[in-house]
Amino acid sequence: MSTARVPVAVLISGSGTNLQALIDATQAPEHPARIAVVLADRHKAFGLERARRAGIPTEVVLKRDHPDRTTYDEAVADRLKVHGVDWICLAGFMKVVGAPLLTAYPDRILNIHPALLPAFPGLHGPAQALAHGVQIAGATVHVVDGGMDTGPIVVQGAVPVLSGDDVDALGQRILLGVEHIIYPRALRWAASGKLRVIRHVGAPPRVEIDGDPARFVFAASAG
Ligand code: GRF
Repeated sequence: MSTARVPVAVLISGSGTNLQALIDATQAPEHPARIAVVLADRHKAFGLERARRAGIPTEVVLKRDHPDRTTYDEAVADRLKVHGVDWICLAGFMKVVGAPLLTAYPDRILNIHPALLPAFPGLHGPAQALAHGVQIAGATVHVVDGGMDTGPIVVQGAVPVLSGDDVDALGQRILLGVEHIIYPRALRWAASGKLRVIRHVGAPPRVEIDGDPARFVFAASAG
């Protein structure tokens, strides 16, 4: 008898290569999660096509159909509830998540960001890394707390910055070298109940993963 798998939503705005990595990982028969719905904020997000090819239901919720961010987030939360979603993965979703979603899914929303947080939050992580001359760049999966890429860190992946890198080269090294590895790893921990957010007064919240697995990846030559 198989155990029920945890229903997960993936929210996207664009190409959805991280979505594809999550689809591929969750197709393993023993995986603790299943992607119950892919939701986009635009019809043209190519990730919707990836979902359809995998037989995953899709939803599109457009900002222009809602008067403000609160009603938009309420509409997204309503759609996710229809699909029975327990966890949310933001994968290139170009909106900051607001109170209605955070309240509906406390400590149950993950995001992936193309920088080694807390450095370089916001847009253009690889460009910021190059502009600052850092020698090691990477990506972070974190729990979403309503700030801009500020929530507690789940797992990080690092790649070198090579001489001659431009934004595209570095961005691709981060995406292919580590993002597609660390996001499925984080989702597996979340769906198997191993991920906990620990809060102590006077200190930032921290993530603990039961069993204390390695929470980093180095990709020395990928991309
Ligand atoms: C990734 O770089 C991710 O870190 C960021 O948005 C990008 C999405 O890429 N949040 P994709 O749509 O998954 O290919």
